[in-house]
Amino acid sequence: MLNKIKELQNEIAAIKAASKEDVEALRIKYLSKKGQIGLLFDEFKTVAADQKKEMGAAINELKNYALETINGLKENFSEQHSSSEGLDLTLPGESQKLGTRHPLAVVRNEIIDIFSRLGFVVSEGPEIEDDWHVFSALNFPPEHPARDMQDTFFIEKDPDVLLRTHTSSVQVRVMEKSQPPIRAIFPGRVFRNEAISARAHCVFHQIEGLYVDENVSFADLKQTLLFFAREFFGEKTEIRLRPSYFPFTEPSAEMDVSCSICGGKGCNVCKYTGWLEIMGCGMVDPNVLDLCKIDSKKYTGFAFGMGIERITMLKYGVKDLRLYFENDVRFLNQFQSAY
Ligand code: PHE
Repeated sequence: MLNKIKELQNEIAAIKAASKEDVEALRIKYLSKKGQIGLLFDEFKTVAADQKKEMGAAINELKNYALETINGLKENFSEQHSSSEGLDLTLPGESQKLGTRHPLAVVRNEIIDIFSRLGFVVSEGPEIEDDWHVFSALNFPPEHPARDMQDTFFIEKDPDVLLRTHTSSVQVRVMEKSQPPIRAIFPGRVFRNEAISARAHCVFHQIEGLYVDENVSFADLKQTLLFFAREFFGEKTEIRLRPSYFPFTEPSAEMDVSCSICGGKGCNVCKYTGWLEIMGCGMVDPNVLDLCKIDSKKYTGFAFGMGIERITMLKYGVKDLRLYFENDVRFLNQFQSAY
């Protein structure tokens, strides 16, 4: 029996394992009930009484040796996974793939950034509005076509609950609850009952601005918009104001910028005019100030508003505004931006 013990001891001293599974197989081979050492314990029952002490000690020693060896092998394996051996800690990490902002958000943030440098703060209002904030307080006459179901989405009639058709409603809300000086911009989503095409959508985004204080003049409006145009489209940009009409501004104008694509020489984007129309603007009609409880004898103001989809199309050469709403990552991935 002592010989057998010696043999096993030598065998165990030489065991090797290439995997956790190997270690487990060795454990079964030596240490399980029917394993080699288990069998020795069975045999031990037949050992003569005077040898029991010596044999018992030898078998126990062998068992402990096997346990130690096999546990040692096991540890080696779990260590191989967690130890830093073989790992190059100086390798750069796997970089996180950054998403991109939506182009409309990029442009909105850039516009906000430009106006905030002039002291404009951002104000937002509800998308579901009433007649007063979208039309009446803005001097829309009762028969104005915008009040028609063909142009506006109504949720309820009498009293009117509707989706705002422009963010000018936020101008009203801000004027109603604060007194000049007011210098704010209003980005937001607007809704119009229009057929969807490459150039029009029933949901789109605007950003409007309002400045009301003593002695605000049309020259201030012009200079503010020139600053914006040059910051946004480049320092060589020129602007042009053409007379226009809005119920809530008087006088009113449309602002064009010199075409950023051909530099004013004429191309198919500016339809060979050299100019791109980008926003409506004007001096806030004194009626509107009075309706919003601002003293029109003391204060004057200017307002302007533009469509973010259109400006984004002009800046990035996007040909079809339906692309903004399809969320095709091949389109969206192209707008890596600081904003
Ligand atoms: N609210 C106008 C529109 O939706 C834009 C505008 C805003 C015009 C402010 C003048 C002043 O087209």
